[in-house]
Amino acid sequence: MIAKPKGTYDILPFEVNDWVKLEEVVRKVCRLYNYKEIRTPIFESFNVFHRDINDTSDMVTKETYDFKDRSERLITLRPEGTAGVARAFIENKLYVDNPVNKLFYMGPMFRYERPQKGRNRQFNQFGVEALGSDSPLIDAEVIALGASVIRSLGLKDVKVKINTLGDQESRANYRDVLVKHFSQYKECLCEDCKNRLVKNPLRILDCKVDRDQEFFKTAPKIKDYLNDYSKKRFETVLSALDGMQLKYELDDNLVRGLDYYSHTVFELEVNIPEFGAQNVIGAGGRYDNLIKDLDGPDTPGVGMAFGMERLLLATSYAGKKLSKPDSIHVYFISLGERARLESLKLANICRIGGLTCEMDYKERGIKGQFKEADKNNARFTCILGDNELDSFTINIKDNATDEQETISLYDVYPYIINKLNAQAQGPCAACNVKKENN
Ligand code: HAM
Repeated sequence: MIAKPKGTYDILPFEVNDWVKLEEVVRKVCRLYNYKEIRTPIFESFNVFHRDINDTSDMVTKETYDFKDRSERLITLRPEGTAGVARAFIENKLYVDNPVNKLFYMGPMFRYERPQKGRNRQFNQFGVEALGSDSPLIDAEVIALGASVIRSLGLKDVKVKINTLGDQESRANYRDVLVKHFSQYKECLCEDCKNRLVKNPLRILDCKVDRDQEFFKTAPKIKDYLNDYSKKRFETVLSALDGMQLKYELDDNLVRGLDYYSHTVFELEVNIPEFGAQNVIGAGGRYDNLIKDLDGPDTPGVGMAFGMERLLLATSYAGKKLSKPDSIHVYFISLGERARLESLKLANICRIGGLTCEMDYKERGIKGQFKEADKNNARFTCILGDNELDSFTINIKDNATDEQETISLYDVYPYIINKLNAQAQGPCAACNVKKENN
C-alpha cells in the first residue's frame, strides 16, 4: 500500500462540510470588510521566497520545498501566501487602478516542519493582505477582521498579542543595544541564535530554545528605542483597537518568525492545553519593504494569516459544530430491474428540478435499501416495485412526519416540491437544503 507523505493528511467526505463552512465564514467576513479574493500559484520562482541571503527565518532557511523543474528552473512550493500575493500585485500592476488593494486568499501551503497536532507539511491558510496604505487604522482593521472570523466561528478564549518593531531607524538603534547585550552571553546562545546575533539579532527574541534563560528576561525592550514616529504610530493602532473595543495584550518579545515585518506585529492565541506550541492560530503584521524588495513600486502592506486546520481543531475543542450532517431529499427504493430503471428516470427528473436524490446500485433487498435511505438522511423515501409500475403509482413516505401515500408515478416531483414549500419555514434538514438550492 502506498501511504500519504509524512505531514500530509486526507480530508475525508464526512469532514469536508466543516471545511466548506469555514470557507463560507471566511468569504462572508471578507465581504463585510471589502477584501477581494485572489488566487495565486501554489509554486513560485525560488526568488519570491528566497529574497535575501541574510534571511534568518526558519521558514525560508530550513523549511521550503525547493526543486528544479524539467527545464532546470528553480521552483519553491509556497510556504505562505504573502510573498506570492506581493509578486502578483507587482506583475499584474494592481496598483494602477486601485491605490489600496485589499485581498484575501485561501489554500494549501508547504513547510518541511516536524509534524505534530496542528502542524503539517501541507496545511491550509486563509490570509488577507492590504496593499497600498501605511495608515495605522488599516493595521487595526486587519486585526478586527481576524477577530471577526474568530467570533463567527464561536471561539471565545482567543488572545490577541501585539507589539511594534518600529521603523528602520528604531530597529537600527535597538539592534545595536541588543547585539551588545546578547554578545555578553554569546557562549550560552543556541547555534541558531549565534547566527542570528550576526544576521538578525531581533530574531533571537523569538527563540524557543533560549527564551527561559535569565539573560533573555533582562534583554533591552524595543519600546525604549522607538523614535517618535514609530511610537506615535503604534499608539494610534492601539487606540483604534480600543475604539473598536478589541482586547489585546502587549508583548515586548513578539518579533514574529518572518523577516519582512516592520511596525505592527501580532499573533492570535487560543487557550487549549492540548495544542502546546501550536496554540497560535493566526498571525500577521506590517511589511512596508517587501514589495520594494521584490522589485515593485515602494508600497506599504499589512496582513495576517490563519492556519485553517488550527481554526477547525480549535472549534472542535470548543465543542462547536460548524456544519450539519449531509441530507438528501429523496431516496428511491426499487425492487426489480424495471423499477430500478424507472427510479433512475424519476431521480433524474427530480435532480434536474433541484432535488438531491439517491437510489440503489447494489441490488440490495428492501431492508438494505431502507437502511441506505436512513444513512443518507433522506427526507422522502419512494418505494417502487412491479405492482406499482403496472398501476403507474409509487409509494412515498415523508420521513419527517411518517406520513405514507400512494401517488401517481407522474406526480413525484410536484408532490415533493409542494410538501417542501408548505414546510419551507420548518426546521427539517431537507428544507434547509432546499432553501440553499434556491
Ligand atoms: P505564519 O505565522 O508563518 O505567518 O503563519 C500563519 C499561521 O499559519 C500560523 O499562525 C499558523 O496558524 C499557521 N501555520 C503555520 N505553519 C503551519 C503548519 N506547519 N501547519 C499548520 N498550520 C501552520 C505567515 O504565514 C504570514 N504570511 C502571515 C502574514 C500575512 N503576515 C502578513 N500577511
